[in-house]
Amino acid sequence: MSRMTIRVARDDDLPLLPAIDASGGPLFRGAGMDLVADMPPDPPEAFEPALAAGTLWVTADEDDRPVGFVRVGLVDGHPHVDQLSVHPDQAGQRLGARLLEAAETWARSAGHAEMSLTTYRDVPWNGPYYERLGWRVLPVASLGPGLAAARQHERDRGLDRWPRQAMVKDLAPGPGGRPVLTTPRVTLRPMTLEHLPLLHRLDADPEVMRHLLGRARTPEEIDAFWAPRCADPSGDALGLGWWVGFAGAGAGADFLGWWDLGRRDSEPGSPVRPDAAEIGWRLDRRYWRRGLASEGAAALVRHGFETVGLRRIWAETMAVNAASRGVMRRLGMRHVSTEVRAWDDPLPGAEEGEVTYEITAEEWRRGLR
Ligand SMILES: CC(C)(COP(=O)(O)OP(=O)(O)OC[C@H]1O[C@@H](n2cnc3c(N)ncnc32)[C@H](O)[C@@H]1OP(=O)(O)O)[C@@H](O)C(=O)NCCC(=O)NCCS
Repeated sequence: MSRMTIRVARDDDLPLLPAIDASGGPLFRGAGMDLVADMPPDPPEAFEPALAAGTLWVTADEDDRPVGFVRVGLVDGHPHVDQLSVHPDQAGQRLGARLLEAAETWARSAGHAEMSLTTYRDVPWNGPYYERLGWRVLPVASLGPGLAAARQHERDRGLDRWPRQAMVKDLAPGPGGRPVLTTPRVTLRPMTLEHLPLLHRLDADPEVMRHLLGRARTPEEIDAFWAPRCADPSGDALGLGWWVGFAGAGAGADFLGWWDLGRRDSEPGSPVRPDAAEIGWRLDRRYWRRGLASEGAAALVRHGFETVGLRRIWAETMAVNAASRGVMRRLGMRHVSTEVRAWDDPLPGAEEGEVTYEITAEEWRRGLR
């Protein structure tokens, strides 16, 4: 795990930011974009308004020295990413994504429904990168006056020699107050009744259900179990509930499985706690053992601690469910107990008991550093 921290910028960071900005130059030169490579970086004073507004975040190394930053302003009343920059020596650690997440978390908590930016359409670490992080291209006809003016200014500076575009990230909560969560490989969408056919596919696989029921669910059982959960409003106010995961952001992306935070086998409608929540997952067998369950779950853990404000997240599984325990370990959860329970119709392995793992908000934050 990266030892970099993300924090709001301070005064003494500003002199270091132009060099970080300039460090990306050679990448653009390598792509044949000398005009962009030669543009002088903004001076330290240019960062002052964002610093004062609290919308400048840095990622800092172990010596607390910034190696990347995101600067956010306001355009058309929405937060706008003016600049995202990570020193190329620190590439490949998801620092850009984490900086954007910090900005998004702030934007959501400030009540904004979307965030915008403008970028190069075809430069791999620009348009395609943002698309992987869940941003979508804004058609020219939908640009507000501020974004249209920003695009015009870019054209006037000659930047459109390489196609540029405006993009937005939707921040508004989906059905039930649950946001869409994105990771490099997984898009988590709030589960609704339209996803019921996908859940049929999952629960009809006896191997997927081995440690849950010991056999496939029948179609009637699947409807009876999932339909009320797809429509369950009880976690709504807190942004908790069920999500379905897809391999990518676009329509038609492959269905991976589901993840949940806060609700589990408890009956729909039962109380949801505001301070602690259970996490769970179930993936289509074709996608096992690629780190996808862990990747989606990590986004949910982040959502739980950063946005919902949970203090503790726990998970339970049969002691013999090595895969689920693997995900728990990968999330940095601690094994807290093993309990052998009495069951009417025990599944194979029940004699080894059920294990509970947990992670507190403090442990999670420490793990990020
Ligand atoms: C549990 C489940 C979601 C895991 O999905 P996954 O995407 O394969 O998990 P990941 O690839 O993220 O693996 C996480 C860790 O578990 C390990 N792991 C995964 N499957 C494993 C298995 N069958 N045996 C041993 N370890 C396993 C991985 O190697 C990885 O460990 P690492 O961090 O040391 O590399 C999936 O197996 C599943 O859907 N099972 C059926 C439903 C279920 O049992 N749900 C949980 C009920 S509590």
